[in-house]
Amino acid sequence: MSEVVPTAGQYGHVPVMCAEVMAWLVPATSAPAMRFIDATVGLGGHAAQLLQRLPADGRLLALDADPAALTRARKRLQPYAARVTFAQGRHVDLQEIARRHGFESVHGILFDLGVSSLQLDDPERGFAFQHDGPLDMRMGPAAETTADEIVNTWDVEDLERIIRQYGEERYARRVARAIVARRPVHTTAALARVVASAVQTRERIHPATRTFQALRIAVNDELESLATALEQAVALLRPGGRLVVIAFHSLEDRIVKQFIVREARDCLCPSDLPQCVCGHKATLVNLTRKVLRPTEQEMTENPRSRSARLRVAERLGEGAVGVQAK
Ligand SMILES: C[S@@+](CC[C@H](N)C(=O)[O-])C[C@H]1O[C@@H](n2cnc3c(N)ncnc32)[C@H](O)[C@@H]1O
Repeated sequence: MSEVVPTAGQYGHVPVMCAEVMAWLVPATSAPAMRFIDATVGLGGHAAQLLQRLPADGRLLALDADPAALTRARKRLQPYAARVTFAQGRHVDLQEIARRHGFESVHGILFDLGVSSLQLDDPERGFAFQHDGPLDMRMGPAAETTADEIVNTWDVEDLERIIRQYGEERYARRVARAIVARRPVHTTAALARVVASAVQTRERIHPATRTFQALRIAVNDELESLATALEQAVALLRPGGRLVVIAFHSLEDRIVKQFIVREARDCLCPSDLPQCVCGHKATLVNLTRKVLRPTEQEMTENPRSRSARLRVAERLGEGAVGVQAK
């Protein structure tokens, strides 16, 4: 088994926490016809490493909402084409997509959440204020709105709510008022200027960072979608199968953590009830009680990995092998 940890190389993209993902996702002993799902195939960085480690009869379902990402992933995964099924779709439809392609009872599912460097670096996608472009921010064509529509049509209270809730911006009211006062705002650079005019900060990050995060989450319904996707992922895992999730901000990570903690418990009743009335049975073993972070070296070499947080759980059920956290 190769232990090559990828560098940016010809693809200009380094998969985050790749060594850790492989160590947790791929079982030490292989079984016949292993099945995995990469629910965020992106540029195919993690997927290529996974396929390199799987036996010849192992198969991967490579999912992404973004057709442009799938085009890139197809190219990168060409050497493994016979073992990969590509699907364009969203996490809310994970179970249905997996069933349609015969990926039920899988050995592992990976979510490497957020946006890819392909999306971030393309000004036309409107994710970043570092490059001027239209306010789009859709991960894929199925998103029901755009950042432009939110910025230019939502009322000030709704703007304030998402900027506070999804951006954790303490000056949310000021930012929302400034946006409404300066409408129409159609480009990323213009929006960044409006936000900067409303927020006084000595932080190292640009004052628009939190507002851009909020808009992206709202456009793609990211938090709701994640909660649903985790439920569906558990239903797709076979006993002993692994769920590996990398989150990039605390809102996402909180959802993942709370989901795993809840699913690792047998009863969810309030502690003052004398006996269980909920009947909930644990479906997961929490393998990373303490969240995993990239090494200092990775953070230096790949600054985009800085905010990554990795959590892993294992599906319980008949045939599952009890595993202790590494
Ligand atoms: C951080 S990138 C993944 C990078 C990938 N692991 C690699 O090594 O190249 C995240 C990808 O997930 C996709 N994505 C994010 N949210 C999604 C959702 N709700 N449904 C489907 N794909 C989603 C994005 O389009 C993006 O391509």
